[in-house]
Amino acid sequence: MGRAFVYVILGGGVAAGYAALEFTRRGVSQGELCIISEEPVPPYERPALSKGYLLPEAPARLPSFHTCVGANEERLTPKWYKEHGIELVLGTRVKSADVKRKTLLTAAGETISYKILIIATGARALKLEEFGVSGSNAENVCYLRDLADADRLVNVMQSCAGGNAVVIGGGYIGMECAASLVINKINVTMVFPEAHFMARLFTPKIASYYEDYYKSKGVKFIKGTVLSSFDMDSNGKVTAVNLRDGSRLPVDMVVVGIGIRPNTSLFEGQLTLEKGGIKVNGRMRTSNSSVYAVGDVAAFPVQLFGETRRLEHVDSARKSARHAVAAIMEPNKTDDFDYLPFFYSRVFTLSWQFYGDNAGEVVHFGDYSGSTIGAYWVSKGHLVGSFLEGGSKEDYEAIAKATKLKPAIEDLTELERQGLGFALTV
Ligand code: FDA
Ligand code: NAD
Repeated sequence: MGRAFVYVILGGGVAAGYAALEFTRRGVSQGELCIISEEPVPPYERPALSKGYLLPEAPARLPSFHTCVGANEERLTPKWYKEHGIELVLGTRVKSADVKRKTLLTAAGETISYKILIIATGARALKLEEFGVSGSNAENVCYLRDLADADRLVNVMQSCAGGNAVVIGGGYIGMECAASLVINKINVTMVFPEAHFMARLFTPKIASYYEDYYKSKGVKFIKGTVLSSFDMDSNGKVTAVNLRDGSRLPVDMVVVGIGIRPNTSLFEGQLTLEKGGIKVNGRMRTSNSSVYAVGDVAAFPVQLFGETRRLEHVDSARKSARHAVAAIMEPNKTDDFDYLPFFYSRVFTLSWQFYGDNAGEVVHFGDYSGSTIGAYWVSKGHLVGSFLEGGSKEDYEAIAKATKLKPAIEDLTELERQGLGFALTV
């Protein structure tokens, strides 16, 4: 038993939604394209899950945030896929792939064959067990990667209003979930191994600006240590968190955000891997000429840095997906992907954007006791990265443009003096 398609997208997340839109814009025919997803719903804007989805009032719910509303494009509902003759195979896990035979085998036993495959399998959340701690399955321990996780988190949160939460991990999930928990009137303690949160991106000075804001909202920080075990009651519910530094924190719930692993396992031994992801060229094509990879799972050449990178952010998922489809459908008109990395977050009433690379020396600017702060990164005499909190649309456009231009910087003190003005006039 099996079905055959010209194009198959494996995975039904952000990248899949943007790829589908691009396929229809470039003239895919009815019945040619299929999306296979383990999730039971069509592609949606995953960033909503740690923000609007967790609000206590008027929370975001599907169908309001199906792709591609996040980029102010059409909202692709189940009806849209039907009208465009795109086959959605939902609630279906692919359990093996054979790139030589160009087939995928689903957990339900169906073989789906393709002429061109786009791998858009994203990533999975790392589990505590992978760090030697057990208890991930306890009913009040939450992870956040997909809609099912978000529903669970909402339920747990509602059952412990006024109670205590420990957030494990000081990355994006930790930072955004801690803010959402506070908005839901839950007392939050954040625990992470680094000296400050968002250590992969923020400088100590930027981090302390946000940490002070979080402290003003009642959030407590325990840094430089990790979880060692949970105390459980007889129902298997976590009642306290034990840390390696010897402290014990009584809890009503736990949120874990300790990083991700790209979902590459179906293709290990079949495609070339790099940086933990599937290696692609500037056309998003893998080591097999019929297979492309996009989004969190793809390691692609970032021209600006002259280096292969794997990014875990929504803008790169959207744009890499569109680029792959352009390269597939109109190969002669499509250049290599020329991407400026872009990350952002929104917490409480704060909002920041970052462009480029956080390498080299840092110059901070703005008013770190006020509402607009920023930083530039300068490497080998050139501006390579820019960060801004509290800017206007024009300010963000200016830092993006300046970063893309990579201007030469001779005098860091002068750059600091000019601050945002530098980007606005470059
Ligand atoms: P994505 O994870 O979106 O989709 C992968 C899909 O593949 C899923 O549907 C999965 O079920 C499916 N799949 C995997 N293996 C399969 C198999 N074997 N068979 C069938 N289906 C399979 N970024 C940002 O820039 N700003 C932000 O504010 C946020 N916020 C944010 C919040 C939360 C809660 C998360 C989890 C993530 C973010 N991100 C973000 C990151 C961003 O969402 C992420 O980079 C993109 O979703 C990546 O898109 P992909 O399509 O690559 O993977
Ligand atoms: P992350 O990589 O941002 O942060 C992981 C954090 O885990 C580290 O900062 C560290 O504090 C912590 N950690 C590592 N090992 C630990 C250990 N043994 N014990 C305790 N803590 C440990 O990953 P995340 O926060 O889990 O986010 C998951 C994914 O979702 C990432 O790809 C991220 O980019 C994406 N995401 C992005 C956004 C955004 O861009 N605004 C928002 C939410 C999620």
